[in-house]
This record gives sequence, C-alpha cells and structure tokens, in this order.
Amino acid sequence: MYLTEKEQKMLDGEEGYAVKKSMQILVALGDIYGAERLIKVGSVQVAGVSYHNLGDAGLEFLNELAKDGKVKVLTTLNPAGMDLENWKNLGISEEFAEKQNMVIDAFEKMGILISCTCTPYLIGNLPRYGEHIAWSESSAVTFANSVIGAKTNREGGPSALAAAFVGKTPCYGLHLDENRVPDIHVHVNAALTKLSDWGALGYSIGKKAENKIPYITGIKDAELDELKSFCASVVTYGAKPLFYMQGITPGSEKHPPPKEKVTIENKDIKEAYENINDEVTDIDLVCIGCPHCSIKEIAEIAELLKDKKISPSTEFWVATSRFAKQIADKRGYTEMIERAGGKFACDTCMAVAPLKGRFRSVATTSAKGCYYSRQNSMKTKMGSIEECVEAAVTGKWS
Ligand code: F3S
Repeated sequence: MYLTEKEQKMLDGEEGYAVKKSMQILVALGDIYGAERLIKVGSVQVAGVSYHNLGDAGLEFLNELAKDGKVKVLTTLNPAGMDLENWKNLGISEEFAEKQNMVIDAFEKMGILISCTCTPYLIGNLPRYGEHIAWSESSAVTFANSVIGAKTNREGGPSALAAAFVGKTPCYGLHLDENRVPDIHVHVNAALTKLSDWGALGYSIGKKAENKIPYITGIKDAELDELKSFCASVVTYGAKPLFYMQGITPGSEKHPPPKEKVTIENKDIKEAYENINDEVTDIDLVCIGCPHCSIKEIAEIAELLKDKKISPSTEFWVATSRFAKQIADKRGYTEMIERAGGKFACDTCMAVAPLKGRFRSVATTSAKGCYYSRQNSMKTKMGSIEECVEAAVTGKWS
C-alpha cells in the first residue's frame, strides 16, 4: 500500500507508540485486502467496550494505547458491559464494575466520547452522504452505509481504534463504489404490521442474500425505528452491511434491480418467527432496545406501562443511550417506566452485559437480540413492544 511521507513517519514511530501500532494494523489490513492507499475518515465508532468481551488482555492492550494515544477525529463508543451510573440496580458485581470502569477510563484518556451506544447517529455522530468513516458494530455500520449513504467497512474494535488514532483507514471494500453495487433483487410481498416484523424481514433477507448486497423493492414506507431494527437483523443473519431499499434509502435510484431475484412472502416472515422463537412460556427478562431505544420507542413503552406493574418474576429493561434517557427524564417517561417496576439499562445492552446464567428466558422486539441471547443460553421470544410489555406484566409469553 502506498504511504505518504507523513504516513511513513507515523509508521516509523515519529508520533509515538499508539500511532505506530495503529499504522501497523492499518498497513497489514491494507495489504491483506489490496488497498492502494489510506483515506481520511470523518468519524469512528469503536466496538469492543465491554469488559465481559475484552477480559484482562483487552484492558491491557487499551491501557498501552492510552499512554500516548489521542484520537484525531470524532470518535464514539459502543455499549459497555454495564450501566455506568446505575450498574448496581442491574445486578452487576463490584469486581466487574471496577474492571469496566478501568476500560472506560482508558477510552476517556484517548479523547473518545463516552457515548456507549450502538445508535451513534441518534446522539450526534451523524456522517453525511458519501462520507468515508470507520465504524464497528454491525447494526450501526449497516445503518450508516444504507440509510445514511456513508461508506464504511465493518471494522473490528482494534481497526476502528487504529483509524481513530491515524484519522484514516485503508481504501478497500465498501469504500469503493464498485463494491457497493447490489447483487440480489429481493421483492417483498409481505405485510409488515409491527416493529418486530422488520427483524423477521431482516432474518429472511439475511438468509436469502447470503453475503450479497440486497436491492429491496415492494416496501412503500419505513420509519427510522423500523430501519434501525432491520439493519441489526439483516446483517446478523447473513447479508453484507449494505442494502438498498427502492424509494427509501439513498442511492437506490442509481441502480437497476439485479437479475438474481428472490421474493419474501408472508410465509417467510412466519417462518422467521418460528426460527427465532423458542418453546418457552415463563419469561425472566424482557429487554427492549436492540439497537438502543429511540426517544419515540421509550415514549411508547412509558404509555403502555401506565397503571401497570411488572411481574415480580420478571425484570424489564429499557436499553438506551444516556442521551435518550436524559430526554426521557425531562419528559416524565423515566418516572412512568420506573414506577411500573421497569429499569433503564443505559450504556449497555443484552448482548454485552454479563447475563449468562442469570436469566433462562428473554422476550424482546429484536431479532438480533434473540441471536445473542441464545449464545447466552437463554430461550427467546420476539414480538411487538405491546407483546413484550404484556410479557413483563404477566411474566408469561402468551
Ligand atoms: Fe446494539 Fe447490543 Fe443490539 S450493541 S444492536 S443493543 S446487540
């Protein structure tokens, strides 16, 4: 990969350890994927924040970089393993909290915004159309590429961090227009009546697209929360982190529908629910907010919980960004949810919090949430916000 004089000096260590290490990572990636050069990025989203996933080796790696590393561009963080303020309320141990706080301290030292959300585009890290960025976290990457029209590969934690220290990323993959051409036409001929149907649709398209870029037709309208849910699901279950939705996402007008065509019918949506849902009736945990809840979703949950009480056998979590929670505090939604017995899980989520062994079953609106909960040995149920609230109130899935 060609390096400018300045980049070569960074690689030689002129700007210190963190930049040298970052350049080594970026050059290695560039060589593997055949990048010709590095390109500037407008922002970075760093995943790999939970101590649960990092362990002591990861913490040590971050502390080394934090000694002299400072980010050069706007850099935001993915969810951590706990609510940074209210972790005790979520049953997190002192030992875990101590380690998680050390991870956060390291990121803070690097100049990263301690945003701890997978919806950075809702809290101020909003790239422009066509902008090159280096984001990790699959749902956010898919949203940025598809709904916003920015350009990013699906970075891992270390490569995103490296891009933040250098302000650049190797130009390959989805940074190149020739790799952003859709290669499978998916016609949707199915009714989508509730939020979780978008997760089911993502499941079906992800399975049929098999690492291709879908060009989706047949959808007349899509709200932001629906697209957010779809992005998380379609990439989790198999597609590339980019799709086009005719008339809805930018760039779809530039491409004709590809020749290879598949259709999604109502039976496919039904089949997706059958595959995502397990045989289980008693629900231990209800978690809404994968990806993190928008303020609109929080308002809906608060309204549904009015005059209701969460079952003593169930925990009810609203996973969201601290920013959205602050708005919820002001609008009275927090009080409404907490009065009913619900809890806010800010800064964290059902996939990265240390939940294994604590809950046997979970109900959620999210297909991606079900995928990761199964990895935490939980039985899963996916449904609408109403169905999830009902499960939290009765302790049962009906
Ligand atoms: Fe976000 Fe966690 Fe879901 S990072 S997309 S809430 S698994």
